[in-house]
Amino acid sequence: MVSKAKSTITHLDCSKCAKIHPHDRLQNLCNCGGPLLARYDLKAASRTLTRDALLSRPATMWRYAEVLPPGEPMTLGEGMTPLIRARRLGARLGLDNLYVKDEGLNPTGSFKARGMSAAVTRAKQLGAKALAAPTAGNAGGALAAYAAHAGIACVIVMPQDTPAANVLECEAFGADVRKLAGLISDCGRYVAEHREKEGWFEFSTLKEPYRIEGKKTMAYELWEQFEGKLPHVIIYPTGGGVGLIGMCKAFDEMEAMRWIGSERPRMVAVQASGCAPIVEAFRSGKESAPFWDNASTIASGLRVPKALGDFLILAGLRTTNGTAVVATDDEMLTAGRELASLEGVFASPEAAATVVAAQKLAAEGWIQPHESVVLFITGSGYKYSEAWQRALQRE
Ligand SMILES: Cc1ncc(COP(=O)(O)O)c(C=O)c1O
Ligand SMILES: [Zn+2]
Repeated sequence: MVSKAKSTITHLDCSKCAKIHPHDRLQNLCNCGGPLLARYDLKAASRTLTRDALLSRPATMWRYAEVLPPGEPMTLGEGMTPLIRARRLGARLGLDNLYVKDEGLNPTGSFKARGMSAAVTRAKQLGAKALAAPTAGNAGGALAAYAAHAGIACVIVMPQDTPAANVLECEAFGADVRKLAGLISDCGRYVAEHREKEGWFEFSTLKEPYRIEGKKTMAYELWEQFEGKLPHVIIYPTGGGVGLIGMCKAFDEMEAMRWIGSERPRMVAVQASGCAPIVEAFRSGKESAPFWDNASTIASGLRVPKALGDFLILAGLRTTNGTAVVATDDEMLTAGRELASLEGVFASPEAAATVVAAQKLAAEGWIQPHESVVLFITGSGYKYSEAWQRALQRE
């Protein structure tokens, strides 16, 4: 069932130079190179998007239709993932109000489903014939699934050492899968170089405006699940940072609709110690993050040496009084076992990194024991048999 509520989109604007762009044509970046952000008539949206109205809407992210792109939703049931109280893990970390949001329950096993549902919906409506994206893994699986559902061709370009399950799922969904020796940044260059002559619409992170829109719904759901409030702290495993940027955008929209005041959860980005450009830039007070050389981590989704939206991620951390933390691969593997054995939640290494961050920040007093903390379990462990084998072989 899909809600009858309608999108209130008005235009796109550039996150760098503020130039306004129409929303009714396929678009990638602004001419200045800045990512485009969708804007809505939030006054109109707030008249129909109310807590009462939400009670009778479908349990997918499309329940927030007023603040999502227009078009017949390409939906596989994404969103409205459970917020689980993690009492046993919380007791271990000294946190009385610890929660995990289990995004692994989305179609294709990760939160990437949200972004791809929104972006494929819009691209289909605007007539895209073939979609192409570089991916560290999960975004490819999600794009391939939604493209299949929409009946649009898609090309997925991934590093050749991407987890096997990500390659299999893309092939099963009928995508044209191309594996390259290199990192996601090399795959991104391949897509940019081939898109024109091959007629692809580019779906790279932040290079089209709507993946952010899908991912921002994680924040809308938290507001509903906390009964009209938000947690004190949100911990998010950050690669390209789309979910973090999206949630910060959602908080601003919620404030404009008078759902919340000017308070914000403190946003925490956790990255792998083998690829931590955002943490490094945050600590050294920079507004953007230089390319990270020799990126290497078992958490494939965090192996992003350069994020196009680095300046938006860093602004989100600073304006919310948040912080940035690293986790080593060993710490992630240990934390993943702890989360699984104490809470019954089977997480990907990226997601397990949030447990490491919570542990470090609680230990140093940055998070107080009574504060409410949400860990984003962005991906399921079921796709990571290689990493889990390594985790279980260790002492
Ligand atoms: C499981 C998982 N967590 C986190 C991330 C990072 O996501 P974002 O690009 O929104 O920072 C990825 C990206 O591939 C991922 O697959
Ligand atoms: Zn611009």
